[in-house]
Amino acid sequence: MKTNLNLETRQDRKTTAPLLYVLRRESLSPPPVWIMRQAGRYLPEYLEVRAKAGSFLDLCYTPALAAEVTLQPVRRFGFDAAILFSDILIVPDALGQSVTFVEGEGPRLKPLENAADMAKLDRTGTEKSFARVYETIERVCTGLGETPLIGFCGAPWTVATYMIAGCGTADQLPARLWAYQQPVEFQKLIDLLTEVSADYLCGQIVAGVHAVQIFDSWAGVLPEAEFERWVIEPAKRITAAVKQRHPSVPVIGFPRGAGHLYERYARETGVDAIGCDTTLPPTVMASLTKHAAVQGNLDPIALLAGGEALERSVGALLATLSGKPHIFNLGHGILPETPIAHVEKLVELVRRGR
Ligand code: CP3
Repeated sequence: MKTNLNLETRQDRKTTAPLLYVLRRESLSPPPVWIMRQAGRYLPEYLEVRAKAGSFLDLCYTPALAAEVTLQPVRRFGFDAAILFSDILIVPDALGQSVTFVEGEGPRLKPLENAADMAKLDRTGTEKSFARVYETIERVCTGLGETPLIGFCGAPWTVATYMIAGCGTADQLPARLWAYQQPVEFQKLIDLLTEVSADYLCGQIVAGVHAVQIFDSWAGVLPEAEFERWVIEPAKRITAAVKQRHPSVPVIGFPRGAGHLYERYARETGVDAIGCDTTLPPTVMASLTKHAAVQGNLDPIALLAGGEALERSVGALLATLSGKPHIFNLGHGILPETPIAHVEKLVELVRRGR
């Protein structure tokens, strides 16, 4: 009971925040702005905490430190949202698959090789791991004031690509092959991830997040029929499960690289907003607002470049999406080499309206 009352109070307090306003498909000028991977290696204060934490996973699982790095970019730039500092690979880790992050290389998992490996995944242990994340959320909410907090999970397809390959791959070949050759087994893995991810997002909402995002970074490699089965269906099920339990909490879907299939994703999944990658023309983003608010899609390399390229790109996005429900963001995560002055400039340009 106590938790529900707290939840309602927290949600009420933030309903006028620009991000949540646009997530209800209203337009705002200037639009709210935050950036993917806003807590990260381009910030000296992040690197300092990161060095203290030891491993990347230790940072994710230590609530005081994870809360601190979540708040850092909001303090420094005054973004319109914070995003929980964590990782999409917390879910396989919580299911008992070994996950580590190798400095300068990325994630390493013990790859799932067959049905027996899959049978070892254990849902009963997830709550213990997720509890650390929920504690981070509670701490962040205390320090955030009026700024809303976005929670997230990886989409089942993208998480499965890492679980099966054991690392990031250029073409996601192992998971794509498994999906074709053993669709019944693969469906079981996707179903498990769908259910666990929905529970995880609901847990994050009860802990205090105001919106959630589903990251499907590798959605763009699938043909239409596979996209429908492994990307659209799980996103639809996760969104429905979240909405059933928390009807007022908005869901953002990010099917990176989906190209022509963006429209189907926006129309069929029930998400409130759709994250757009850099390849989507702003005019196409404008047409997607028939179905959902749009978020994105500045090229992270334009932000790295700065100067005229940055001003022109920001100006084009703002001009085309003026009057539409648009959340300003990048088309993918900020690059670690990005100068802080460019991020300051970005916020200034967006807030100035050109
Ligand atoms: O956006 C944020 O600020 C919130 C935190 C966040 C991280 N990862 C922190 C992180 C979020 C939302 C993610 C999502 C994530 N993680 C995705 C989906 C989005 C995307 O980028 O496509 C994926 C595919 C992962 C898996 C992952 N985590 C990879 C492939 C890597 C290595 C690549 C890299 O950039 O180093 C990570 C590590 C990671 N996750 C870092 C951060 C800040 C860098 C690690 C470090 O600081 O040592």
